[in-house]
Amino acid sequence: MQYRIMPVTAAHIGQMAEIEKLCFPDPWSRQLLEEMLYLPGTAAFAAVSEDGAVLGYTSAQTVLDEGYINNVAVRPEYRRQGIASDLLETLRRRGAELGLAFLTLEVRESNKAAQALYTKHGYLEVGCRRNYYEHPKEDAILMTLEFTT
Ligand SMILES: CC(C)(COP(=O)(O)OP(=O)(O)OC[C@H]1O[C@@H](n2cnc3c(N)ncnc32)[C@H](O)[C@@H]1OP(=O)(O)O)[C@@H](O)C(=O)NCCC(=O)NCCS
Repeated sequence: MQYRIMPVTAAHIGQMAEIEKLCFPDPWSRQLLEEMLYLPGTAAFAAVSEDGAVLGYTSAQTVLDEGYINNVAVRPEYRRQGIASDLLETLRRRGAELGLAFLTLEVRESNKAAQALYTKHGYLEVGCRRNYYEHPKEDAILMTLEFTT
């Protein structure tokens, strides 16, 4: 599948909300995604096919030199083709341009696929938040990528 990684625009939000529902028990609503897009300090990228279909996306919030990843998601039928990797790499490059000290995220303890993805991209396990998630209740693993200067 041919796709391009591009900054998220309002035109992508509807499809992102669909992907949220396919991927997460507590999906972000269209409205929440829209609010995220217009917050200052948001960096958000989508993988978009030639016909305009959103195949996956990631977004992060930056505060000073800190980067907090909100979400990374890929449509189930397009997984294991490197899309999340391309999205994370684009976010890493953007983080470096912005002079971030780190990018960090929470991931469900049971989500071994996502943990393997982040590990492959240099994120290290740095902690745990007990009972961070609902539906089902579960611990979060904290994973962080440090930018070295
Ligand atoms: C996690 C997710 C984003 C990965 O997307 P993807 O486009 O399939 O990932 P990639 O193809 O770039 O995979 C890169 C690496 O991640 C790891 N990985 C990805 N999916 C995996 C799986 N199901 N099992 C084990 N490792 C996996 C592998 O190391 C993989 O490299 P490889 O294919 O060379 O073995 C996708 O499975 C998804 O959307 N899951 C649901 C939403 C989610 O859990 N998001 C993360 C929330 S913190």
